[in-house]
Amino acid sequence: MSVQSEASPEGSKTASTSERVIIFDTTMRDGEQSPGASMSLNEKLELAKILEEMRVDVIEAGFPIASNGDFEAVRRISQIVTESTVCGLARAGAKDIERCAEAIAPAKRGRIHTFLSTSPVHMKWKLNKAPHEVLELVTSSVTLARNLCGEVEWSAEDATRTERDFLRRCVEAAIKAGAATINIPDTVGYTYPSEYTEIFRDLIEHVPGADTVIFSTHCHNDLGLAVANSLAGVQGGARQIECAVNGLGERAGNAALEEVVMALKVRADRLHFRTGVVSEHITRASRYVSAITGFPVQYNKAIVGKNAFAHESGIHQDGMLKNAETYEIMRPEDVGQGATNLVMGKHSGRHAFREKLQALGYELGQNALDEAFQRFKDLADKKKHVYDEDIIALVDDSLAAGAERIAVQRLRVIAGTEGQSAELTLVVDGEAKSAQSSGDGPVDAVFNAIRKIAPHEAELRLFQVHAVTEGTDAQAQVSVRLEEGGHIATGHAADTDTLTASAKAYVNALNNLVQRREKTAPEPLIASGF
Ligand code: KIV
Ligand code: ZN
Repeated sequence: MSVQSEASPEGSKTASTSERVIIFDTTMRDGEQSPGASMSLNEKLELAKILEEMRVDVIEAGFPIASNGDFEAVRRISQIVTESTVCGLARAGAKDIERCAEAIAPAKRGRIHTFLSTSPVHMKWKLNKAPHEVLELVTSSVTLARNLCGEVEWSAEDATRTERDFLRRCVEAAIKAGAATINIPDTVGYTYPSEYTEIFRDLIEHVPGADTVIFSTHCHNDLGLAVANSLAGVQGGARQIECAVNGLGERAGNAALEEVVMALKVRADRLHFRTGVVSEHITRASRYVSAITGFPVQYNKAIVGKNAFAHESGIHQDGMLKNAETYEIMRPEDVGQGATNLVMGKHSGRHAFREKLQALGYELGQNALDEAFQRFKDLADKKKHVYDEDIIALVDDSLAAGAERIAVQRLRVIAGTEGQSAELTLVVDGEAKSAQSSGDGPVDAVFNAIRKIAPHEAELRLFQVHAVTEGTDAQAQVSVRLEEGGHIATGHAADTDTLTASAKAYVNALNNLVQRREKTAPEPLIASGF
């Protein structure tokens, strides 16, 4: 593996001769660490497929020691992904590394990503270890990981607040022990572009063996600089960028994958690097991540926001009509944002539906296709115009649905100025059960009825409704987040009836919560001190 020298900003390199930057997606690991952004096993499997189709190089699928659920997700993703590298995270302890190795064992290309804090504040308060102990641990952890897996990445947690000479010594120890990728995380989102460039230049220049490894960026967005810092890291010699869809991640998030990829693509004239990402899949990945986490994408978010390609002012619209390049630096199609188009109605056949799915980036197996087609027909019966967004919501819902223990069978709600009540039938473990309930509003009545049939202690943390398209017959996409005993689970569902979507989303969250309850952590993360 070699790191070539930084390309000069000006010049005439073409895309094919420019250097490749590895895109490492951490949506399912750092992204899922974001409070409330939990994903179910099926949702993670589906996301892994989307990321692989998008040609992300490395998928960080989770933190296997964190819980049996995380372990299972990393293991199952390792079984189904064949093109991308599947990576699992591990602290510097033997149990973590061994569990991670076990989870990624089925992967065609697996990677153990192990990390240890190196900054004075982390070593003192988090690890309670002296620098020489940390150095020894770097060597022993990377050596163990290397014995269990051919590909190891080592991260210096809080690298940007680490004393420079000590950082060099840690990186040297990790390289000597066999790490092939060295990650320099800006864990607390503190660095500045020029400083981050400098850190990489310094390490590449001074650390023995630096030319044999790939350096990586991992930037948090606490000062809104994560993407700028990641690109600055590349200017300093990094050739891997760690990022997450929609910028999901701890606190203010990670560098947004879509922004990093498009900045490199659109301004290839300034930074002569290319990624392998198929940018046309970006919008689909963004919408899916937003739907399964219940984290809305802000309207003016770069690349994937609803308004990212909207032109409101008369002057802009006039310019756009004459030539789109007047106000657009990339085309909406480049990121998979097609114009909202009317697709089909109830007379559309299976063949046309399959073609539409393919155009939207879905490759479904026969069973999934049959189920999606039936749902499309049901929707077309209720809704005059069926748009691309409707189909995306419908298919994403059914792809993420697993073996659900609870399902909504029938719902009748009476609402108005004289009060609200709900009659509900759920199928619980194969048995139909009914209840009636009232509430402060129709949604409350529905949720109370669910609680009567399936009693639980979980607290409602989020209830969010979003219209999939415009118009009063639009499908409502509902997200519900529940929390019980430290477990958080999100559910989502779309339906032309907002209350039906609410009931289904609540039940989906409950199913995910049951799954999480059944897969508790084998050992608390904090206890071992790393
Ligand atoms: O931000 C960070 O330092 C991390 C490491 C575990 C890579 O997420
Ligand atoms: Zn991080």
